Amino acid sequence: MNDFCWPLAGLLLAVSVSTQAADPLAVYGKGGTNPAAMACTSCHGTEGEGLAAAGFPRLAGLSAVYLKKQLADFASAERVNPIMQPIAAALSAEEADAVTAMLASKPQPPVERISRAALAEEPGAVLALRGAWERNIPECVACHGPSGVGVGDTFPPLVGQSAQYLSAQLLAWQQGTRKNDPNDLMGHIARSLSQDEIKAVSAYFANLTEAGAGQ
Ligand code: HEC
Ligand code: HEC
Repeated sequence: MNDFCWPLAGLLLAVSVSTQAADPLAVYGKGGTNPAAMACTSCHGTEGEGLAAAGFPRLAGLSAVYLKKQLADFASAERVNPIMQPIAAALSAEEADAVTAMLASKPQPPVERISRAALAEEPGAVLALRGAWERNIPECVACHGPSGVGVGDTFPPLVGQSAQYLSAQLLAWQQGTRKNDPNDLMGHIARSLSQDEIKAVSAYFANLTEAGAGQ
């Protein structure tokens, strides 16, 4: 090897060592190496529980694959949000991997599993458990699981989120600022809901836990 290569080899080694060392707690609590990747804790809470009153979502216990997809969607503007877009774009891939794996390992809030056959009287419960098939709206629990606990890496939990956050997402799909869902599954559903239905179904899932109801 000639003399020229040695510093380069050293540099490559230093880069690979530093990229492997993304510490999830440091990223979460202090932010990424790029100062634009602000600390998550100030908005998403010390344990990733979110801040219901401000509409900042819960991240704890969500699938790492789902969380990483959202960060990528913010970065590519398929999901438009003025707060999260610059943060997601500033996180390195290693930092995003580390912080999402750490968040996914945290517990979800406990919730009673409500059967689809349960009595559904008010409009939120009817949409959640029965849907509105005459308008091609499947019941939410068909994809999001019983009580909206989430299913696998594709269908995020609705329970544990605040009504404010849930309705903001449904409105974002209606307005086309969130268009990151596979096959327009959620876009179609959100556009078929009235404003009152959005309020009712968001309140239904939020009120299944204390965390979502936000005190
Ligand atoms: C200044 C406040 C703020 C900070 C700091 C912040 N976030 Fe967010 N985050 C938000 C808001 C607001 C939303 C909801 C955006 C929307 O409505 O689309 C959000 C949404 C998200 C989502 C989507 C959750 C879901 O259920 O789809 C992820 C993932 C996320 N943030 C990760 C992070 C990570 C990781 C960090 C730290 C590197 C971070 N956020 C820092 C405010 C913040
Ligand atoms: C056919 C399957 C399907 C059905 C039925 C469905 N969803 Fe979804 N929903 C999804 C998928 C897939 C996503 C994740 C999209 C993505 O990748 O960002 C999602 C995401 C969401 C989110 C965003 C959660 C977050 O953390 O940001 C909300 C809110 C939501 N759905 C509400 C509802 C409501 C309310 C209903 C019932 C009226 C419903 N969904 C029915 C497939 C479905």
